[in-house]
Amino acid sequence: MRVIIVENAAQVANAAAEHIAQVVRSCAAADRAAVLGVATGSSPIGTYNALAEIARAEQLDLSEVRAFALDEYVGLDREHPESYHAVIHRTVTEPLGLNPAHVHVPDGLAADLYEACQSYETAITNAGGVDLQLLGIGANGHIGFNEPTSSLASRTRPKTLAPQTRVDNARFFDSLDQVPVHCVTQGIGTILDARKALLVAQGESKAEAVAAMIEGPLSSMCPASALQLHPDATVIIDREAAAMLTLRDYYEHIELHQPHGSK
Ligand code: F6R
Repeated sequence: MRVIIVENAAQVANAAAEHIAQVVRSCAAADRAAVLGVATGSSPIGTYNALAEIARAEQLDLSEVRAFALDEYVGLDREHPESYHAVIHRTVTEPLGLNPAHVHVPDGLAADLYEACQSYETAITNAGGVDLQLLGIGANGHIGFNEPTSSLASRTRPKTLAPQTRVDNARFFDSLDQVPVHCVTQGIGTILDARKALLVAQGESKAEAVAAMIEGPLSSMCPASALQLHPDATVIIDREAAAMLTLRDYYEHIELHQPHGSK
């Protein structure tokens, strides 16, 4: 796992956006559209804005990019401002100029959620798989909505949100009881299938989860620790999110002395 520690949230956004732009450019050079896995939540917002800036400055055309969201609440109308359909449209599709027909979000309203989740997996496969999956991390170590003790081999499926996640996300709703209890989420196995994984985290509230992800044991108690199994995972964090890393100095040393030929 590559660990990049920067000064602040703005630098996290710029560095992550440059990583994504690089994937879009190299897919374009290979004459194909990039397939991006996109996350909701507050962590990646700056990254999307910085990517929009790069696209404007370089006239990087993102209209052919395919996008697959990580998760969705069960039972929220798509028009609800906090449904992930609406959030992805507002924070990703519009600012980046993606074609809405190429942007996919799991269906949290399907009569048969299990079947809808299976179709979502098929849609990712049919798109050729995800080139880069952008992730945030929950304070409890979740990625997507894979809460602690989720199977590290899980696929897209319905889940019950952890009480703490509902409390954490209540800030987006008028009250806690409006936060859905269930969700559909890509599984950890689905996330690990992406050719690259890129996780961003900012602030001290993420420091404990970040340390568990990078340095803790591989454990379903910290679902993000599954990224230790990914052959091309990058974590970009600010100083506050890096505060509890034991080997912080080493990661900074590595960035200054990249092994020859490394990515
Ligand atoms: C969002 C998602 C979640 C968030 C995580 C962090 O699609 O899947 O895993 O990335 O809850 O949320 P924020 O960024 O709001 O702290």
